Amino acid sequence: MAGPGDRAKGRGSLLAISDLHVRHAENGTVVEQLRPESPEDWLLVAGDVGDTIAQVEWALRLLAARFAKVLWSPGNHELWSLPTDPVPLRGVARYARLVELCRELGVVTPEDPYPVWEGLGGPVTVAPLFLLYDYSWRPEGLDTAQAALAEAYRTGIVCTDEYLLHPDPYESRSAWCTARVAGTARRLAERDPALPTVLMNHWPLCREPTRILRYPIFAQWCGTEATADWHRRFNAVAVVYGHLHIPRTTWYDGVRFEEVSVGYPREWRRRSGLPGQLRRILPAPAGLPPTAW
Ligand SMILES: [Fe+2]
Ligand SMILES: [Fe+2]
Repeated sequence: MAGPGDRAKGRGSLLAISDLHVRHAENGTVVEQLRPESPEDWLLVAGDVGDTIAQVEWALRLLAARFAKVLWSPGNHELWSLPTDPVPLRGVARYARLVELCRELGVVTPEDPYPVWEGLGGPVTVAPLFLLYDYSWRPEGLDTAQAALAEAYRTGIVCTDEYLLHPDPYESRSAWCTARVAGTARRLAERDPALPTVLMNHWPLCREPTRILRYPIFAQWCGTEATADWHRRFNAVAVVYGHLHIPRTTWYDGVRFEEVSVGYPREWRRRSGLPGQLRRILPAPAGLPPTAW
């Protein structure tokens, strides 16, 4: 376990944040204040940086200039095709443009080789993932995605993705998710099996974190049952995610799950702490039980 003396050795920390939503001016101010604790720090950015390509570029350019390495996974907001965005790309083409932008900025994406964190708490393979969702987290008694979606429309709790996140050229968001899960599982299986992992995905990898959603019907837009065991299967010491806008630390099967969202100003204003606190993933904060592997 790391202590204050370890920081003095200067090997940095693996830090994380998500859901910066810089469309909101106050969140832009929060991002402007984000700074590493040491020159060796890496930053995980778990999606929902902004709603347009320009917003994403602004935030990631700023962060890439400050941190030794920035890793990004897309959120649903980056994948929205807003009529007001001068970049009219949809679906896979939009994601490809975002990956291209990240490469221009030196930011690591889910399409790049997974880097190894060699600092304190390492060596650990750090894998930014892009997995989406497939409507498999349905309310009890609703056996099909169609029934769950119908119930969502009936109750008025419908994710904006239904209107703005286009899956082209896939026929559906769930088909895109299936392809992402298959390709990513192959990539993860090829990693160095001797090293544990830190997995980052915008959406949580298992359903448990969604059990406290205010509107449980919303869980269908929050992940996929296909990754329920990935934290064990791929030897994770920590899973980093966002999307729920419920920042907290929980444990499943002895693995630390970190929801690291900033969220909207109306959400973070209600909380007691300052917005934009970077969560330390590695070295594991003192006082946390070690992962049982
Ligand atoms: Fe978000
Ligand atoms: Fe999100």
